[in-house]
Amino acid sequence: MADATDLLDAGERLGPDELRALQLERLRASLRHAYAHVPFYRESFDKAGVRPEDCRSLADLARFPFTTKADLRANYPYGMFAVPRERIRRLHASSGTTGRPTVVGYTDNDLSMWSDMVARSIRAAGGRPGDIVHVAYGYGLFTGGLGAHYGAERLGCTVVPASGGMTARQVQLIQDLEPSVIMVTPSYMLTLLDEFERQGVDPRTTSLRVGVFGAEPWTERMRREIEERFAIDAVDIYGLSEVIGPGVAQECVETKDGLHVWEDHFYPEIVDPVTGEVLPEGERGELVFTSLTKEAMPVVRYRTRDLTRLLPGTARAFRRMEKVTGRSDDMVILRGVNLFPTQIEEIVLRTPGVAPHFQLRLTREGRLDALTVRAEARPDAPPEVREAAARAIVAGVKDGIGVSVDVEIVEPESLERSVGKIRRIVDLRPRNAG
Ligand code: DLL
Repeated sequence: MADATDLLDAGERLGPDELRALQLERLRASLRHAYAHVPFYRESFDKAGVRPEDCRSLADLARFPFTTKADLRANYPYGMFAVPRERIRRLHASSGTTGRPTVVGYTDNDLSMWSDMVARSIRAAGGRPGDIVHVAYGYGLFTGGLGAHYGAERLGCTVVPASGGMTARQVQLIQDLEPSVIMVTPSYMLTLLDEFERQGVDPRTTSLRVGVFGAEPWTERMRREIEERFAIDAVDIYGLSEVIGPGVAQECVETKDGLHVWEDHFYPEIVDPVTGEVLPEGERGELVFTSLTKEAMPVVRYRTRDLTRLLPGTARAFRRMEKVTGRSDDMVILRGVNLFPTQIEEIVLRTPGVAPHFQLRLTREGRLDALTVRAEARPDAPPEVREAAARAIVAGVKDGIGVSVDVEIVEPESLERSVGKIRRIVDLRPRNAG
């Protein structure tokens, strides 16, 4: 295998000064493009009293107004597009669990840039031209399937467009077609794991070498679980449809130390989620992206609601973002204590006798919210081990997070399995009740 550095593309070879210069040039062009062609940006820049020409340095970006999911919804479906509809070659949409979905569009050049970024991501993950790539992200309006697909083709791989679901068949395909790379959500990878075991096939014996996992938060413990059970390298891919889809940032297999942001195309900032103030490098806050080269739907300071921090580059010159451990939307406030599902994941996955499947049930008792962690017993765990597991999780949450929760150890195979993005929180609190 060629050394990874021999394969870097032109963007990945830029030195720090060249990168900053390129970013500024692209940023200025992108702001001009948005202002000239999207009425929403014209209005929001005018209201904030800024013009694209006011951006003379990368730091000047902080003077520009944010864009939020609500702005995209308000301009549904085509209001954020900066090119005539005839130049839009593809649409994707977010699921829209609350209210209207959001629609995103791509020109030919956007699709090509996206493929380049996903190809770069797969390469950073350890994939190489000639590899067989099994894509089990959902195909359709979700960006995961088609995004991974065209990126893998761009890299020169053979793609198996499996999409999500039909789990028994996926296991068969992996055995028969012998892919070396799998691209899937980490939670669906666990569903596949169960199916391998059900079919009596040792998942460590497959041809898989690398897994490129994303679309939902997952922890270092989950990485260890997947790597050990499948004997593969598990690396993180990040992205969101509003910015492009998968391939905004990618972890490098040689360091597994957070995700390099492909910042020659997507410019990151970290802001205080409450005040919106830009935070100094290294501080945790909300990730905000400005697209630098997108034509169909440029985004200016888009608030992702994902919480992370920026760190200097390692395996690549680009800055890294720490693994996203939660989004502000998924934060549970329990008696004044902030809690993210990933914190529970860490605790459940280190507890003997329970499987890596769990769900969080939010209820209201009187005026107080209560949280029940429902974790699945491993099939071979006897009653005393299950009881010890429940006590260990209660204590782990109390000591580690500082709040009391109930724990229920449920029967093996009783929790709903993921076929894509998993829903960890089941909110059973009465609506509009205080
Ligand atoms: O999930 C794009 C994607 C597909 C990324 C496949 C990676 C792999 P959306 O459906 O728009 O797009 O959801 C975006 O998912 O704002 C995060 O909250 C979350 N997310 C995506 N990747 C990660 C990750 C795709 N690696 C939203 N870690 C984002 C944690 C992630 N959260």
